[in-house]
Amino acid sequence: MFVQTPLGCNRSGSSFHFFTGKSVLGVTVGGVRRIRYRHSPHRLFELIAQSDRGGRDHAAAAAAAASPARPSTARAEWPIKRQLGESDLLVTNCCLGTMTWGEQNTAAEAHQQLDYAIHERGLNFIDCAEAYPVPPRPETQGATERILGQWLRQNRALRSQLVLASKVCGPGRFMNWIRGGPQLDRRSIIDACHASLERLGVDTIDLYQIHWPARRVPLFGEHAFPDPHSAAEAEALVPSVETQLEAMQQLVRDGKVRYVGLSNETPVGMMEFAHAAERAGLPRVVSVQNSYSLLHREFEGAHAEASARCHAPLLVYSPLAGGVLSGKYLPDADPQQRENSRFTIFQSYMERFRKPSATEAVRQYAQVARRFGKTPAQLALSFVRTRWFVGSVIVGATRVEHLQENLAAFDEHSDAGRWDADMEQAVNEVYLNGYRDVALGV
Ligand SMILES: NC(=O)c1ccc[n+]([C@@H]2O[C@H](COP(=O)([O-])OP(=O)(O)OC[C@H]3O[C@@H](n4cnc5c(N)ncnc54)[C@H](OP(=O)(O)O)[C@@H]3O)[C@@H](O)[C@H]2O)c1
Repeated sequence: MFVQTPLGCNRSGSSFHFFTGKSVLGVTVGGVRRIRYRHSPHRLFELIAQSDRGGRDHAAAAAAAASPARPSTARAEWPIKRQLGESDLLVTNCCLGTMTWGEQNTAAEAHQQLDYAIHERGLNFIDCAEAYPVPPRPETQGATERILGQWLRQNRALRSQLVLASKVCGPGRFMNWIRGGPQLDRRSIIDACHASLERLGVDTIDLYQIHWPARRVPLFGEHAFPDPHSAAEAEALVPSVETQLEAMQQLVRDGKVRYVGLSNETPVGMMEFAHAAERAGLPRVVSVQNSYSLLHREFEGAHAEASARCHAPLLVYSPLAGGVLSGKYLPDADPQQRENSRFTIFQSYMERFRKPSATEAVRQYAQVARRFGKTPAQLALSFVRTRWFVGSVIVGATRVEHLQENLAAFDEHSDAGRWDADMEQAVNEVYLNGYRDVALGV
């Protein structure tokens, strides 16, 4: 889709140098891609996407030419790792979500998921938050990080190989059990981080994210920016982007945090953070974690541009629209499949994914999935995995069987994970035929 210039490849030892024209783009060592020289962000993303699809074939061809006697090693290392922005964080392109641990899942179930995803399947990236589990409640807040912390203590030797992400809550949303109502002033960010480190039982969080902006912006399925005149008073109290980044800088200097990320951010916010960092020598954000799925493709427009210009790839959350894209809530699906499921238990949670138009879109995507020999969940995950702006897809599960089915969609050499132009066309036909962003707005 974004291939404009054929990508060259040279082999030297165990490394493959990718280049376009005369400029070296980066180097791939043992399946891990490291960006070496900066291109324009957009071009860089194009080249990354291109090297994901074609680079390994070039590499394999070059390897075969260099030592024809060796057996073919064309199959890519799995899972693929990606660099987050300009950081040295190399994350697997699927990340383990955690937000059901401590509510829908017990600690033992969570540890089973971790054993499977990390030990058996080689994921190195885990995402949690001070607010979790969900739906947020005062009685359970922090349980997810504590459960993860127990597992990390039992697996200490693994710590240096893992990328741990957590989040500090933005203000409001009725969560006054967190610091009397969470804020993003300097003291709150620092206190929140210390509390997360304590629960996780680690010295450092690799990626510390602002869970949602301090500003009033459309969030969680809202689509309209509120009239700024009605929000003027509240806006006056919002800590500046510089204040938030200065708190993050303090945490980085103290060794508590390695890199900073955003979440639920708008294109304006992403650019604002990038400019503030540039202006004042503050930490640059290296990723943005937003909702993205077949039911919610808003990110593809201005968000994608901002993400490229800020060098902050998308960490996708809710890639299955909370489980809806598995097809199990369709009226003709076996009701047993949705027993104890998120929307059976919490009927008003993430209602945006269960509007009648969303249900019809899911029915059509499920038909497309069957046509291509995938499960509906695998179609949805293969779709998000193959977007050029995606750094990693955060996979949520309440059962190990979910992980087995879902992680297969990250193996591009399997039927579950294969993605081609016919599939692209088939999902776009549904999308363009009346089901654009059905999870957004009124
Ligand atoms: N930054 C943010 O604001 C934000 C917001 C949301 C999530 N997140 C992060 O993103 C992660 C993933 O989000 P999400 O849980 O909403 O992702 P999702 O992939 O849209 O939904 C995951 C849920 O779908 C169901 N499911 C998963 N695989 C299935 C399968 N193969 N068949 C049937 N059902 C399946 C499971 O729930 P049931 O068993 O209950 O059906 C699972 O918990 C979270 O854990 C969290 O780390 C971040």
